[in-house]
Amino acid sequence: MIDADDDAPKKFMKIFVFFACFCGYSMKMKPGVADLERYDWLAAEIGRHDTAYYTLARPTISDFEYDRLYRELRDFEERFPDCRRPDSPTLRVGAPPLTEFRQVAHRQRMESLDNTYSFAELGEFFTRVQKGLGGGPVSYMVEPKVDGVAVSARYERGALTLGLTRGDGSRGDDITENLKTIRQLPLTVTGAPEVLEVRGEVYLTHSAFARLNQEREEQGLDLFANARNATAGTLKLLDSREVAKRRLSLVVYAVGEVAGLEFASQEEVLARLSAFGFNVPEWHARAADGEEVLTAIGVLEKLRKNFAYPTDGAVVKVSEFSARAELGSTAKAPRWAVAYKFAPERAETRLKGVTFQVGRTGVITPVAELETVQLSGTKVSRATLHNFHEIQRKDIRLGDIVLVEKAGEIIPAVVGVNLERRDFMVEPIEPPQLCPCCGSADLTWDGVFYKCVNPDCAAQINRRLAHFAHRGAMDIEGLGEASVALLMREGLIKRLDDIYRLKAGQLAGLERMGEKSARNLITGIEASKRQPLWRLIFGLGIDQVGSGLARKLEKRFGSLERLAAATREELEAVDDVGEKVAESVGQYFARPESRRLLAALKELGVSAEAASADSETALGGKIFVITGTLSKPRAYFEERIRALGGEVSGSVGKKTSYLLAGAGGGAKL
Ligand code: IVH
Repeated sequence: MIDADDDAPKKFMKIFVFFACFCGYSMKMKPGVADLERYDWLAAEIGRHDTAYYTLARPTISDFEYDRLYRELRDFEERFPDCRRPDSPTLRVGAPPLTEFRQVAHRQRMESLDNTYSFAELGEFFTRVQKGLGGGPVSYMVEPKVDGVAVSARYERGALTLGLTRGDGSRGDDITENLKTIRQLPLTVTGAPEVLEVRGEVYLTHSAFARLNQEREEQGLDLFANARNATAGTLKLLDSREVAKRRLSLVVYAVGEVAGLEFASQEEVLARLSAFGFNVPEWHARAADGEEVLTAIGVLEKLRKNFAYPTDGAVVKVSEFSARAELGSTAKAPRWAVAYKFAPERAETRLKGVTFQVGRTGVITPVAELETVQLSGTKVSRATLHNFHEIQRKDIRLGDIVLVEKAGEIIPAVVGVNLERRDFMVEPIEPPQLCPCCGSADLTWDGVFYKCVNPDCAAQINRRLAHFAHRGAMDIEGLGEASVALLMREGLIKRLDDIYRLKAGQLAGLERMGEKSARNLITGIEASKRQPLWRLIFGLGIDQVGSGLARKLEKRFGSLERLAAATREELEAVDDVGEKVAESVGQYFARPESRRLLAALKELGVSAEAASADSETALGGKIFVITGTLSKPRAYFEERIRALGGEVSGSVGKKTSYLLAGAGGGAKL
């Protein structure tokens, strides 16, 4: 008898079909081994080319070839998004915006340096080092002091895991996503030790900075005073896609926590980090003693003009790590290193006259008109005098021989007078009588600045409008400084109330404004007419009136008319309103320009109403603490809580009523 299983062929078929489907299914959803290997190779290859191009300035393939590899990698990731490597080169373009930066502790304190300003002070540093080491042998490394923002990047088993700002030295902001956009920072390090923290300076090259400021000028945005401010402002952006556009650079010069590798000297640090693919200072000099350090600084001072990054001095470091350990640190800085700051270049020239400029906050700046003089390689014929208080303090007069300085800032400044060369013909500098932009005589003086307070002044309208529309005030989405500048350029708005006269038809077709965004903007503007009164009060930008005080004013007066008619005594009776604030509010509503604006807003239907008493007090007396990442920006929740009468506190304590916790809430939770 044959023990035959009659169902055997059927069973076989079933198993076959199952496998076929499974394979078919998995072929669609999962890449094969060869695909994965190709993908890994592409990622590594692109990484190598990035280092060759951005760090070594020695490209190894053509742009065309590079683009081809990049496109192939991107296509793979689009097909298999789950397989995207955490160190994929596509991350260089940035990730979706964060709501805030997480604070993370440094595993090893991130110290700063003491500054010195003269060779004499440097001499004292050498003596201290000698004494601290009992006169033993020591050598130094001299490096450029790069004028950027200090950061730390951590690698675990060769993969970039964390990027931090210095913060207070013990904790910094988690700026990993922003750092990933910097091409000079490898995302993976081949042959790296178990843990490797590198420290260095993020900076903007002179050309990247010039381009950024030019773009901002075209968009009607505030210019950055220097490359360092621009770098700091960029690293603070929560949207790494914006950071990617600004093309930051990075140079590394130190290590933090390291496990699995020992360094004996600074030379070794620079050589190793360079071999790992990091960008280290292209110029650095070993010095056997103090004298050689001074010589090296002299060389650096000449060379630095040709560096791509801004430098403001030299950093002198004891090279040997054993000597560093012996010297240790003070509370603030290591005893084994010091920064030597170059003196800013100065020149003397005659002050021919003074003109005035009004900024976007209404502040009027006196500008020195000078006999042209050569300074830091450029011709200077104008310089800022800062403000009238400074003119008085430095006793600067027309016709004086003044000292002009350029200290990293793009705008030179008058820093003093050469009294020995003062002529008897010099004359006092008269303060401004009229706003140089709108001609208004309505100027205030606070002891330091003269300010134009005309709400319709064209120099200020951009900023005023952006403040008015800001999320914390009238909350009009899509109406930021750039779009206000655009609408002004197109002549569609001249004064604040003009935004309520805009029509969708006028907007569509403008630069970066499709039909849909035009419609959304008009809807947003229309909706803002019914915003609560405090938002309107805050949005007007009255000096000294923040959103908290605006709420109190709404509560006390209930309408804009009543607030505008309030006497000083009535104003001062409000919590937090002192003499100064009452005066500022009173003056604002007394101005004819303000009265015109309020009448226009009313006519255009901006009805801003006071909140009812109930909704104001629903959370009365309750104290909230917020932690972690929430579904909307933290400011949104803070505002909602305050609008309902609650308070928001920064730390959990006995009085805390509620903790509003989002993802990743740490200690507070
Ligand atoms: S070493 C513990 N090297 O300048 C010492 N710092 O004014 C770590 N800086 O805090 C710093 N170039 O942010 C070092 N070649 C360089 C530097 C440098 C710029 C920055 C750094 C430091 C600050 C001191």
